[in-house]
Amino acid sequence: MPERGATGGILSSVAKTFYIETFGCQMNAHDSEKVIGTLQHEGYTQVTDEDSADLVLYNTCSIRDKAEQKVFHRLNEYKRLQGEGKRFGVLGCVAQQEGEKIFEKAPFVSLVSGSASYRNLPEMLRRLEAGENRITGLDDRQTDETFDTEFTARSNPHRGYITITEGCDKFCSYCVVPYTRGKERSRTSESVLTEARRMADAGFTDIQLLGQNVNSFSDPIGKMNFAEILAAVGEVPGIRRVRFTTSHPRHFTKQIVDAIDAVPTLCDHIHLPVQSGSSAVLKAMQREYTREWYLERISWIKSAKRDISMTTDIIVGFPGETDADFEETVTLCGEVGYDSVFAFKYSPRPNTPAVSMSETVSEEVKSQRLQVLLDRQREIQRALYTRHEGKVIEVMVEGFNQQRGQIIGRTSQNKTLNFTTAQPVLPQIGSYVPVRVTKSLPNSLVGEQAGDAEVPAAVLKQAQPVGLVVLQ
Ligand code: 5AD
Ligand code: SF4
Repeated sequence: MPERGATGGILSSVAKTFYIETFGCQMNAHDSEKVIGTLQHEGYTQVTDEDSADLVLYNTCSIRDKAEQKVFHRLNEYKRLQGEGKRFGVLGCVAQQEGEKIFEKAPFVSLVSGSASYRNLPEMLRRLEAGENRITGLDDRQTDETFDTEFTARSNPHRGYITITEGCDKFCSYCVVPYTRGKERSRTSESVLTEARRMADAGFTDIQLLGQNVNSFSDPIGKMNFAEILAAVGEVPGIRRVRFTTSHPRHFTKQIVDAIDAVPTLCDHIHLPVQSGSSAVLKAMQREYTREWYLERISWIKSAKRDISMTTDIIVGFPGETDADFEETVTLCGEVGYDSVFAFKYSPRPNTPAVSMSETVSEEVKSQRLQVLLDRQREIQRALYTRHEGKVIEVMVEGFNQQRGQIIGRTSQNKTLNFTTAQPVLPQIGSYVPVRVTKSLPNSLVGEQAGDAEVPAAVLKQAQPVGLVVLQ
């Protein structure tokens, strides 16, 4: 048996290590960064393999498919790791959804916590260290608090997330999020701006504001609405790019488009999930808007001075979706002209109203519709991406593809622009480079460097410049 340390803990008696595996959306990825930061602050060291970790954490997603089965399958694989002093925790949406059932099915798990309870992690860790079992963080979904931690361990030194809202009160009839992430709550504009300034000082130049319904941000101190906090983050000195995700059409205002037009650091990209092009399906989905209402928001975006790229999420095969309904989704894609579409087959989720809807669409039809939609969208993108040919676009350098001899850049529109350079030194990761587009593909652009790279001052200050590579 390991000795008990001064705090009476089992884990605290040795150098404490943890391993974390993360699935799901950007919110989940960022939650893991906060969990990692909190654990490090509590004296834990992250390791990259589950075998050598004292604490194995699994941050789960339950948005689609057979998420629960997948989690239990993975936990089954963890079983072989069971050993003295080794502890297991399940976090995230499946943890919240399945709750204490996880202890029944995987008795070696000691901690089960949904995202609304992560702010209690230090206390839960202490109980874990004291040898307690069956620790849960499941009852906080009605909280007003956000998981606001100063210890966030961001995985990329240049691009980083800031959560501005958590949870969701929309209750779309297909979606599990309101049940797993709890009620909608916003951080204060002050705390968001403090975090943005701190990140700018640390060398971050690209910030993504996050929330399940990011644009329903409602400042608890009443100072700013969403368009205002967006613009205010864009005006923080040192910040060059600000993105936001995910927006709900219901809360999408013209003021957001005006802010993008007015503040150059706000990126030329809006992700506005439509889910379906049929007003009848939208009604059954409880989306609270019609096709026409959505298209009006799109017309605001199209009338902006800047070329704002539009992307969306679509669900095919929702119960009751007819061929004619589906066709409306396909025509909507043509009408809008999305630069990218994330399309999913409808997947029934536990506890949601849609799960008991009777007119289900067969898996075969769902698959056919998905394919038709993706094929059509590919044509649309092929045509749309040609608009960039010959233009000079600024990219942020993200890395290098050694095999293809290309530098990987990201545009303000969130497109990948792979480029080559005639300069003797490759641009540094995190620098900004003008690139002339020489070719467009349906999903990315190709180009060549068209001017000097600019390394932002805060990036230069960073202790470890990343990725300075000299060409042979
Ligand atoms: N089935 C299929 N897709 C879903 N999404 C959310 N819930 C479901 C579901 N039950 C999709 C929506 C959402 C994206 C994150 O995942 O398109 O915008
Ligand atoms: Fe998945 Fe939704 Fe949870 Fe994100 S919030 S991890 S998408 S279920």
